[in-house]
Amino acid sequence: MSANKLIFLNQKGGVGKTTSVVSLGAALAKLGKNVLLIDFDSQGNLTSSVSADNSVPGVYEVVTKQVSAVDACQSTSITNLHVISGNIDLAGLNVELVDEDNRNFFVKEALAPLDSMFDYILGDCPPSLGILTVNSLVWADHVVIPLQCEYLAMEGLNLLMRTIASVRKSLNTNLDILGILFTMYSKRNKLAYEVVEDVTKYFPDKVFKTIIPRNVRLSEAPSHGLPIFAYDANCSGAKAYLSFAEEVIKRVE
Ligand SMILES: Nc1ncnc2c1ncn2[C@@H]1O[C@H](COP(=O)(O)OP(=O)(O)O)[C@@H](O)[C@H]1O
Ligand SMILES: [Mg+2]
Repeated sequence: MSANKLIFLNQKGGVGKTTSVVSLGAALAKLGKNVLLIDFDSQGNLTSSVSADNSVPGVYEVVTKQVSAVDACQSTSITNLHVISGNIDLAGLNVELVDEDNRNFFVKEALAPLDSMFDYILGDCPPSLGILTVNSLVWADHVVIPLQCEYLAMEGLNLLMRTIASVRKSLNTNLDILGILFTMYSKRNKLAYEVVEDVTKYFPDKVFKTIIPRNVRLSEAPSHGLPIFAYDANCSGAKAYLSFAEEVIKRVE
């Protein structure tokens, strides 16, 4: 067995990366998959969203080889859902790695022992395209691009596609774009409809059929430290992420 490794990437903040990683992870766990979440963001939002401990060794200690990835795995309140925490120490990593010869391969090497332990490993990226993000792209098999519907993002999307293409060419020929996930969709917002239309026109094969609606329950869940299925399993957000999980399984497996 070898884990399916997905990275959630968008250099813009606030587009739903962390929410999607936590919610997809919990949905996959609910469907019986053994799942690990990895918090590559120094803000540690993923870590707090599942009530993980950010004072124990996490991604920083793993990447700098102070602790093994296996020892950094924490369980969560959800069966089958595990996490490696992230905290503010990660902010310095871009600078610390810059002079190292194999600076783009630290994450891939450090996380290799996890491959045989999980069905899915989902990485949550910081809102930047720094060394840590490039490392995560070198490690991953699939990229998911969350796109906030309320904001026309063609320019940002093109930059992102170019970055992914350049990593694929030089550092990870295995990397593919699994898909574009529309988030925070609101029927009342005309721009949201136009964003979906536009992006679908340019990337017809890439957009996921599932569209994540704007749902207040999704925005409340993190402050309770609970994935959406533990907070309100019947809300529209939970249903959407469950259908997204089924789509991901179909594309990946
Ligand atoms: N579908 C949604 N509906 C309502 N609020 C959402 C939704 N997705 C995310 N949010 C909220 O929007 C904010 C940004 O989302 P987040 O997942 O943290 O984005 P990112 O990780 O890209 O910065 C958070 O406060 C989150 O709770
Ligand atoms: Mg985030």
